[in-house]
Amino acid sequence: MDCRDDLILTCGATHGLQLILNSFVEPDGVILVEEVTYMIAIAVFREFTGMRVVPVPFSDTGVVASELERVAREEKARRGDRSTGKPFWGVFYSIPVYHNPTGVCTSPEVGVEVVRVAQSLGFLVACDDVYNLLHYGPGIAPRRLASLERSLTPAGAGAGAAGAATLKHVVVSNGSFSKILAPGVRVGWLEAPAHLAHQLRTSVPALLHELMVQLNGVLLVRRGILRSGGGVNSYVAGVICSALQLGLLDRHLDLLLTTLSGRMRALCDALEAALPAGCSVHPARPRGGYFVWLRLPARVDAQALCRYARDTRRVSAFPGSMFSTATPGPGGADADASRHCVRLAIAFHDERRLAAAAADLCAAIDEFIRREGKHESKSSSSLT
Ligand SMILES: Cc1ncc(COP(=O)(O)O)c(C=O)c1O
Repeated sequence: MDCRDDLILTCGATHGLQLILNSFVEPDGVILVEEVTYMIAIAVFREFTGMRVVPVPFSDTGVVASELERVAREEKARRGDRSTGKPFWGVFYSIPVYHNPTGVCTSPEVGVEVVRVAQSLGFLVACDDVYNLLHYGPGIAPRRLASLERSLTPAGAGAGAAGAATLKHVVVSNGSFSKILAPGVRVGWLEAPAHLAHQLRTSVPALLHELMVQLNGVLLVRRGILRSGGGVNSYVAGVICSALQLGLLDRHLDLLLTTLSGRMRALCDALEAALPAGCSVHPARPRGGYFVWLRLPARVDAQALCRYARDTRRVSAFPGSMFSTATPGPGGADADASRHCVRLAIAFHDERRLAAAAADLCAAIDEFIRREGKHESKSSSSLT
């Protein structure tokens, strides 16, 4: 079998994210995130206590590239040139294909802008590419930013004039078997530009590095954590490799696509039939991934609505605020934008159950809005 230099085994995308932050980003660096983003990634970021998490506005075509550029410039200037030797002062964490929680796909135009801004301002783009194979069609799946970057600039190509800064590839793709095989296998991979992949293979966490230097000198240091045993989770990776070679994973993926596209259709049909006025699915009918993003009228507090739906109809959904890192106030990403949104997922239940749950949720929303309306009119009349 071919061994690709740009692939590194991980214990899944969450582990991949941790490796990326540990190995490539300054310990007091900046993490730029789409507003909104995957809630467990937010929890991972909070463990990197020296880093600043900065939300960037997000739209139906991906991050707002002009805002990404503005915020990144500001953050870079604020940090200055301090360096402990990590390759990047900051990272943009993105889920460009079938985004969690919104289901949005970053358009190729926005993707190209993101790569251009990252290359020119010298920050890393860490893409969680865990849903891109779950494309239900029609047409071909949206492209990953790593693939887009490769078609824009050959690795290490000069910026133009002789002596100009060399543009190195800056996009790392964080993949996982969690969504295409099973989360319990805990196997994923990083696809990284050669200079970064090499660094990962030979890197160790800072504390361990210090200890190794003291104990054993350079020889051990050059054997990074990922060199021990040749990588992580090698046994399960070997089993998955056999499944790939035998074509079993292809067959499994075909089954998944049929099942999940049926579920997505069932959920969207049921929502379309029963969503109360003023509520909508954005983007309408996602063509892949797990998620449907519901927008409720701006006055509805989605957190209270989700509690109400759970208590009265036993339907559970996550309120948009769970996916937000923005703080209320002027400028930057709007914290209020997610307060009236709800994320629905298709991964766990069959079509019948999803359709029934959607009908129950719609009834709960309708009731909740009417009740809130009554409260409002009562409290406003009591003020007069
Ligand atoms: C965007 C994103 N990244 C990562 C993960 C988790 O991946 P893993 O199980 O490989 O750690 C998920 C799962 O929900 C996800 O939605």
